[in-house]
Amino acid sequence: MSPPRLVLAIETSCDETAASVVGTGRVVRSSIVASQHELHAEYRGVVPEIASRAHAERILPVVRGALDAASVAPGDVHAVAVGHRPGLIGSLLVGVGAAKALALTLGVPLIGVDHVHAHLYAPLLGAAPVRLPALGLVVSGGHTALYRIERWEPHGLTRLGSTIDDAVGEAYDKAATILGLPFPGGPLVDRLAADGDARAVDLPVSRLAPRSLDFSFSGLKTALLYAAHGVPTREGDPPRSLPPTVDGRRRADLCASFQRAAIGAVMLKLRRGLGQWDRRGGDAPAVLVGGGVSANSLLRAELDRLRSEGVEVRAPAMEFCIDNAAMIGGLAHEYLDAGHVSGLGLEAMPTTGTEEAAA
Ligand code: KG4
Ligand code: ZN
Repeated sequence: MSPPRLVLAIETSCDETAASVVGTGRVVRSSIVASQHELHAEYRGVVPEIASRAHAERILPVVRGALDAASVAPGDVHAVAVGHRPGLIGSLLVGVGAAKALALTLGVPLIGVDHVHAHLYAPLLGAAPVRLPALGLVVSGGHTALYRIERWEPHGLTRLGSTIDDAVGEAYDKAATILGLPFPGGPLVDRLAADGDARAVDLPVSRLAPRSLDFSFSGLKTALLYAAHGVPTREGDPPRSLPPTVDGRRRADLCASFQRAAIGAVMLKLRRGLGQWDRRGGDAPAVLVGGGVSANSLLRAELDRLRSEGVEVRAPAMEFCIDNAAMIGGLAHEYLDAGHVSGLGLEAMPTTGTEEAAA
């Protein structure tokens, strides 16, 4: 057996500055996440320039914090990993630059990891490995997609479908804004939905074409806007100001109705993906779920239902649902074991490579 190895991982793709030390066997030795939510709240969305500046200010203390929390000296690190795509370019550049400097000065390999693929690895942190191929579902603020996971290698995943407009987390955050809740509102909508009637308002569940594994949430967002504030006036009519913010019982009902439609659409495509899976005579695949919305209470309940039907479903521990560096470090171990090392020419890339999309 090879000696235990330690990966120092960095994540800065959006508005969380994160670092982690992950040991062999998916053991998370430390995971530090410095959120910037308070810096972006007044804009009700992430402002790229503010995000990259905050990453630059926070990256070194966060890396130091991760090493200290793991009781690991820099010289004990065997490799440095970084989420290098996709994300905000100015944010990615801070993490990639820091990771390159660390790898160079420590004289260890540098490993670039795809942030979305890492979300799919998050359920395996501190847990047993999963049999592959598996079906992956990413539900985050920037991405909503289904994957066939063949191998834990840079080109080992095939995208089966993805959102054609908003990501589901983005739709949650916009729903929160429509309902007068602070940014990022996904968790608040989830919490308020518990007190509402999910059948109070009939909001659309997007299906798209009968065999489509793509997602769409913009129609739901618009339907919620109209349900909350009324349909726009006809052309030529005087502009009408929005009615005062909905609150109380009505707001809870709208949260619950939105949640039912949004998670309903996610589950519909997940079940469709399972139904279309090429089993070649084998069992149903295991399902791996990751991304911020995998913390959602209704999604978790629906995944439990799928489990009770005999499907192996793996979701991350709550702390590894939102952006973190432990998921980058965990996946980097797989790359390291398979000999996928990036080299100091690694580039930050705002988009995911197109090569993984299914034809
Ligand atoms: O994975 P993540 O941290 O960032 C991206 O990679 O995009 O996901 C953040 C998203 C936000 O849109 C946030 O509102 C949403 O996840 N989120 C939730 C919940 N917790 C976080 N959405 C619905 N219900 C939740 N409980
Ligand atoms: Zn993410």
